[in-house]
Parts: sequence; C-alpha cells; structure tokens
Amino acid sequence: MCGIVGYSGKGDAYLSVYKGLCRLEYRGYDSAGIAYPEKGDFVIIKDKGRVSSVLDRDFKCGSGTVIGHTRWATHGTPSAENAHPHRVGSVCIVHNGIIENYASLREMLTEKGYTFLSQTDTEVACALISMYYDLLHDPIKALAVAARLFTGSFALCIIFKEYPERIYALRKESPLLIVPSDGFTVICSDLTVPDFDFDSYYIPESGEIAVLDNGKTEFYDFSGKNIEKMAVSGSFKGDVHVSAGYGSYMEKEIYQQPQVLYKLFSESEEKYEKIKKLFYNVNAVHMIACGTAYHAALTASGFFERVSGIPAYCHLASEFRYGEFIPDDNGMNIVISQSGETADTIAAMRYLQKNGRKVIGVVNVPSSTVDREADLTLLTEAGPEFAVASTKAFTAQVALLMRVAFFISRDSKKPGQYLSTLVKTVKDAVFNALENSEYIYNVASVMSRNSDSFYIGRRTDYALACEGSLKLKEITYIHSEALAAGELKHGTLSLINDGTPVIAIITEETVKDKTASNLEEVMARGGEVFCIAREKDMPDCVKPGNRVILPDIPFPTTVFTASAVLQLIALKSAVLLGRDVDKPRNLAKSVTVE
Ligand code: M6R
Repeated sequence: MCGIVGYSGKGDAYLSVYKGLCRLEYRGYDSAGIAYPEKGDFVIIKDKGRVSSVLDRDFKCGSGTVIGHTRWATHGTPSAENAHPHRVGSVCIVHNGIIENYASLREMLTEKGYTFLSQTDTEVACALISMYYDLLHDPIKALAVAARLFTGSFALCIIFKEYPERIYALRKESPLLIVPSDGFTVICSDLTVPDFDFDSYYIPESGEIAVLDNGKTEFYDFSGKNIEKMAVSGSFKGDVHVSAGYGSYMEKEIYQQPQVLYKLFSESEEKYEKIKKLFYNVNAVHMIACGTAYHAALTASGFFERVSGIPAYCHLASEFRYGEFIPDDNGMNIVISQSGETADTIAAMRYLQKNGRKVIGVVNVPSSTVDREADLTLLTEAGPEFAVASTKAFTAQVALLMRVAFFISRDSKKPGQYLSTLVKTVKDAVFNALENSEYIYNVASVMSRNSDSFYIGRRTDYALACEGSLKLKEITYIHSEALAAGELKHGTLSLINDGTPVIAIITEETVKDKTASNLEEVMARGGEVFCIAREKDMPDCVKPGNRVILPDIPFPTTVFTASAVLQLIALKSAVLLGRDVDKPRNLAKSVTVE
C-alpha cells in the first residue's frame, strides 16, 4: 500500500504532486508528505492526516523536483515522525512496500552511530543509502549496493542534496511507473496520477533503478549497469472525479454497475477466444483471490460448475501461497484481482508459475502486475474503482467468470439460454433493484443502530452473504458475520438476541424453503429478520417492511440485483453513521503487503 509520486522538470511540480497524492489517497490515507530540494538542503512537509489537511494546495515551492507520499502504516503508528518523506544526511526518500530485514539493518546502522527518529523501515532504508552515498559519492553506486541488501518489496523515490534536479527510483516488486511528457517526467504508483494526456510510459522492472532528470529518464540494473529500456504504449482513460449527484465514489461505482454488466454480457466472444487452447482437457478450475475478489470467485463458482461441467475450487490467495498444494497439469488456475497488485494474489500466481502451471488473470487495472505476469489476462473493464470498498469490480468479476463458463461449456445448449436472458435483463434489473430505496433505507437504519449483524444464505447466496457482510463491516465498522444458512444452528445461533438483525439472501429458488426455515429459527430467538429476494421467493415469516423485493427476473440475473442491494445497504448504513465511505479507517484500496 502507500502511494508515491515524484515530479522532475519544468512546470508546477508541487501542484502536480499534490494532485497526484489526492488521486493516490485510495492506497493509504493515514499520513501524507512532500519534500523538495532548496538551497543545498531539503524542505520536508509531512504529518498524520489526509493530503488536504497536511498540505496546502496553493503552496508555491519554486522547485522543479518534488517527491510525495500518502501512507498506510505498516511500521509504526500514523504520526508526523513516521510519515514520509524521511531524510538521513544528504538523502531523502519516500517508499511503498516493506523492507523485511529492516530490524537487522537498523541494528547494524545503530552500531555505526546512526540514530532514528521514527519506527519505520523506510528511515532505515534511507540511512543505508546515505551510508553508502557517503562512502561511494555516487548515487547510482550507493543505490545499487543498498538495493542488493534490502529484502522484501519496495518502490522508492529518492532525492540527493547534491543533485537537486534529479529523482532517483528503485523498484523490487512494488508498483512504479514513469510517465514522460514535454520537459518534465512524473513517477508514480499508478496511472491515475498524471493529469495530462500521454500515450506511452515506462515500467521499471523489479531490480531496476531509474533516474529522472529534466524530462529525460535513464535506467540501470542493481549492479549499477546502464540499460536500454523501451516505453510501452498506453494511456489512462478514466474519470477520476466524483460526479455531481453522487455523495461518494462508492455510490457512483454502485450505480455504474448496470452499464458495466451489460457491456460484459453483450460483448462478443472474441476476447474469450484466446483461452480456448488453455481449457483443452481441463478437469478442474482453481480460482484464487483475496477479499471481495475471493467472494466473486465463490459467487461464480457454483454457476461456473453447472454451466461448464468442470469442477471449480476457490482458494484464498493468502492461504494458498503457503500451502503445498499444486493443482495437477490438467487443472486451470485463475487469479482474480481488481487492482492486479495484491501481494498475496501475485505471490500465489508466481508460486503456480514457478511450478510450471499456467495462470489466467482476471484483472481490472490494465498494466498492473497480474496483467503483465499472468500467462493470459482477461480484463474486466469495469473502469477505475476508487472507493476502498469494491463494488462494480466485484460484479464485473462474477460476470466475467460466468462468461468464461459459457465459453468453455461442455453442454452447448446451456450458455445461450442464460446469456440471452442476462443480456436482455441485467441492465434494467440492477437499475430497478437500486431504485428500491425505501426498503433498503429501512434495513440500513436498523443495521446502523446495532453493533452486530448476520448475513445468511445457501450456495450462491452464502457467497453473496459473505460479500454483503464484508461490505457492511468494511465501511460501517459494525461487527458482522456471514454464514451458510444451515450452519447457524451449529453454534452461532447462540449470538441471536432480541432485535439482532439477520439478513437472508435468496436468489436461488431451489433453496428458498430451507433458508426460510432458518429465518423462522432466528425469529424464534427474537432476531429481527430481513430478506432480499424476489416476491415469489420471499418467506412468509418476513414482515412486509423488512422485505427487499428484487425484480422478477430469473437466476443468475438475481445474483447481480441482490449484490447491488447489499452494497447499497452497506453504503446507506455507513452514511447514516457519518462514516467516511470511500476511505474507511485502517484500510487501503490496494493491498501490496502480505
Ligand atoms: O485488488 P484486489 O481485487 O486483489 O483486492 C482484493 C481485496 O483486497 C479487496 O477486494 C478488498 O477486500 C476490498 N476492499 C473489499 O471491498
């Protein structure tokens, strides 16, 4: 996590970095800071808090070289001391990632007389670079030696007092991109940062050093050898503004779903042609992801099996990578990630590839690490998602996995029947479900007045329950659990008290009676029962005011209407509680640490 940005060259470097940091805040927002060289020294402005509270947008710094940082704390609490940039001697740096061996490096440096003001691994990295710079008097040589001593993952931007017009950068695994323009260059964690048009950019690889100098960029490897590097073609075409009429990015992203889903279901099969060869003879599919992306796998997997005729298994990337399981040669592996930068998902992908297995990436952010490293990528094309709580990326992932199932189906009749309904219904159905605001508001107002909540469902609806529950706790801070409805009586029922809210989801007709019985059991213990279902699937026991009725469209369209409603319940509950919906406490959008 953390976002880094640097600007070198002509133009208003400070304002560009300020704006870039605002755009990167989704990566971490507990502290912010900038640094620039001035009169043979550094000026550093940093503190805990959001970019707009730490930095003044209208500040004029007069330097063409500025580096900036927005932080998600890993080592040390959010504080002015722990905020980046850090400086030691002639060196000042910002960092995204983790220097894993910082404790031993800190000990070694302390013995040599270095003292530290913060608890961060970054200040240790800065001290090590400074030590070698003092010894070698050459930034590239100092960086190359230090880089070889760091373990972990890192993207660093560095300025040296003696080279005020340059930004140096080091990368190992953590994302870093360099966008050249007319007379200046921007270096950043992702492509949302540049506020100018561009058609190409550089991707420093792991193990490379970059030097930005007045619009020119040079590259070196970690042995200090100069290397040639080609820019890749590409740009960023995304709307980074909260549109009028929406209270947050999350709200905007929820309402973008009808269009995103329609596009995914109505696009031609061309995009899927490339996976044909990979699925030849496949006897099992392994879906690997974290958080909401994992829930997308769970949500799609039952339907995937039913349509494709191939068993689908879901794995948490954070667990999978430490196991000893390697799917056999006839298994196909799919990693799913909105950002394409989630450390555990990347590690799982690399683990599989190292063991000779092919991996398909289902990714939203083009040019992200998963997109670049997967054997083949299918882009969800949901457009940039800025709210920390994932919404449209989730539904796009589910939809794309369904389309993969249609494409590889062993029963040629099934896909057509489902796909034509989805194309015809999904857009209006999701839109209409979101319009059901009176009942959604009712659920949200009860949720926001309780400190605990439960979500239940069976099969696909259990997966949706997991996602609905995660969404709620993520942005409201209300404790919530999701259960397979049949599991309640195996323990958790003991937590149901008078008025405890329990939300059931029913999108699959086949299990509606069973879930209805579970709701009766909750009511018998005093629980306040809500249900999200089509009218014909709605259990009689649910009070009229507690029913959120979905449009009368068949499964699997109901998966998308129900998930949109669940997202809106979480959003409205959070708004009622006055939470910062887009930037919930303790979290960040892109989880680039393990
Ligand atoms: O970028 P990814 O899809 O790999 O991210 C995975 C999770 O970190 C992410 O889905 C997280 O759970 C969301 N904030 C939930 O809304």
